[in-house]
Amino acid sequence: MSVMVDKLTPFVYASRVPQTAPMGAAQATSRADVIPLSYGSPVSDSFPYEALQLAASEAIMSQGNEALQYTGADGPAVVRKWISERSALRGIETKPETVLVTYGSGQAIDFACRAILEPGDHVWVESPTFFGALNTFRSSEAVLTAFPIDAEGLRVDLVEEALIAADHAGKPLPKLLYCIPNYHNPGGVSLSVDRRKRLAELAQTYNFFILEDDAYSELNFEEEYLPAVYTFAPQRTIYLGTFSKTIAPGIRVGWAIASAEAISKLGSFFHGSRASVFTQQIVANLLRSYSLAEHIKQLVERYRKQRDCMLASLDNYFGDAVEYTIPQGGFFVWLRFKEEVDTSELVKFAAERGVSFIDGRQFYLTPDEGKHEARLSFSYCESESLELGVARLAEAYIAYLAERNQRS
Ligand SMILES: Cc1ncc(COP(=O)(O)O)c(C=O)c1O
Repeated sequence: MSVMVDKLTPFVYASRVPQTAPMGAAQATSRADVIPLSYGSPVSDSFPYEALQLAASEAIMSQGNEALQYTGADGPAVVRKWISERSALRGIETKPETVLVTYGSGQAIDFACRAILEPGDHVWVESPTFFGALNTFRSSEAVLTAFPIDAEGLRVDLVEEALIAADHAGKPLPKLLYCIPNYHNPGGVSLSVDRRKRLAELAQTYNFFILEDDAYSELNFEEEYLPAVYTFAPQRTIYLGTFSKTIAPGIRVGWAIASAEAISKLGSFFHGSRASVFTQQIVANLLRSYSLAEHIKQLVERYRKQRDCMLASLDNYFGDAVEYTIPQGGFFVWLRFKEEVDTSELVKFAAERGVSFIDGRQFYLTPDEGKHEARLSFSYCESESLELGVARLAEAYIAYLAERNQRS
């Protein structure tokens, strides 16, 4: 029996396929005249091109026999040594069996979900939070509950109240709590040390895992490393790091640190092959021949300048029309507009005037939250463009208010 192609019955894909359009890169615009304050990406000319070229060439020409082969091995020791030394700055002690190198930290979030969650299990998240992680939790068919953040990060007191209430009422407790403790995406804030300790105690008392996503802590404008939440509950925390913000996201090398037991569970989702040994070999060669620590210092200087430029422009063009917490690292400024402003409408006015940003609702569980908020990234554009971008945003804001007032 043959069926005409245009008569095919629509195929029903699994309900876990995310309904939302992919964000981030998808909000990228191909219009060269648009200043992309929406991009949460490192600035492309900061990549260590020459050092990477040499490192890649060595990985092919001198180490290709192994680096280009199928392998079940862990990858080069130099990468693990770097991970272990940098983790020590945050108080984390590692052993070979407590580190898993992954295809970016995004894969580690996915593996953590697969290892920990059954469909219908509860995951508690920050509100707002990183949409990439939200999509992964949704794909795991988890039930999500969100808790607000303030200038000191996640409101751990509210998490505690909710845990006590759920426990008393015999309601489900979370199996996983996802948090971004340093230079939050999108909030820009960091979790205070007291709250880190309390959160860790709660994870131990109520027996859930904390998924500590530390994508930004190397981009630290204060040269201060707060102890990782992991240090207070190593048996109940999975700590995630990445080279995406320090070398380049296209390298796709990240890692998870957890108990040997948890790491062996996460690692079991590599079927056969591990994370690419080829890209790990490139990173290893880079670490041997080039000072990544020095490179990070330069990145920090640059991003600090860009942050200062964005904040000065915001103060200049918006005055008290917006509020924000000054980010001490990372990529993002999280703006709170007055209640009269709906940022998903402002996005359109901004696009017409040649600037993009991400409206707040993309970072929440439900579309009626985050209406008055917006994420601006200072990482991708040079200072001159940042200032022009904010000026265009201010024009868009004035035009938006004028049109809205006309409507009402
Ligand atoms: C908070 C957070 N976690 C994880 C990631 C993903 O990082 P990776 O490139 O290592 O998968 C990002 C990237 O934007 C991020 O902002």
